[in-house]
Amino acid sequence: MASISSKHVFTQWPRDRVLVAPSLLAARYDHLAEEVAAVEKAGAEVLHLDIMDGHFVPNISFGADLVKAIRPASGMLFDVHLMITDPLKYAPRFRDAGADHITFHVEVEQDADKVIDSIHALGCTAGISLRPATPLEMVLPYLEKVEMVLVMTVEPGFGGQSFHGEQLPKIQKLHAAIQATGKPIRLEVDGGIAKASAELVRQSGADVLVAGSSVFHAKDGDYKAAIDVLR
Ligand code: DX5
Ligand code: ZN
Repeated sequence: MASISSKHVFTQWPRDRVLVAPSLLAARYDHLAEEVAAVEKAGAEVLHLDIMDGHFVPNISFGADLVKAIRPASGMLFDVHLMITDPLKYAPRFRDAGADHITFHVEVEQDADKVIDSIHALGCTAGISLRPATPLEMVLPYLEKVEMVLVMTVEPGFGGQSFHGEQLPKIQKLHAAIQATGKPIRLEVDGGIAKASAELVRQSGADVLVAGSSVFHAKDGDYKAAIDVLR
């Protein structure tokens, strides 16, 4: 494996620390730099960046140019979630834009080993994700090669959806499989994460919590309270 050269890595935090990753998808797009600075000040370690191509998912979000534009506004780990059909082609553009970590979906019709190797060759850590309907067995063969597994707790494509509780057994089994490797692989969850669901996923072994609406649409704009309540 090529050495990881990105500035921020998940191993910079203690293994048992639960990290919070606000999703930019729910931020105010007319004040992006301020929104990014505000969640960082509120204690978020990671910024989650949802990239949608209108093909892998039925929605289009934003691209590498936007990631590059907000990079100077933040010292957070940039966690790029590629919900796109062609991660092999586009991963380099997100690395160039400032991504530290890049996650792709196991459902794409590309050789997952090759995608992981290409992300590592870029100097980024790699993550593999699966939709709610995808069995966990699909990602197990790649576990030892990645730095993160991302379990979707909503159907990817849109923010603001309800948490899928039926994904909890999958999270528990992945947690056990990760423990068995002895490696510091992070287990991220994404979709409908708020106070109650955060507690359930933490108890199931998740240690990176993506949160869009529950942070950026927090009551009174209190991002710190919204982040603190998730841990
Ligand atoms: C959904 C995205 C999520 C989304 C989460 O496809 O991957 O990251 O922004 O938003 P909430 O937290 O509002 O469910
Ligand atoms: Zn996401």
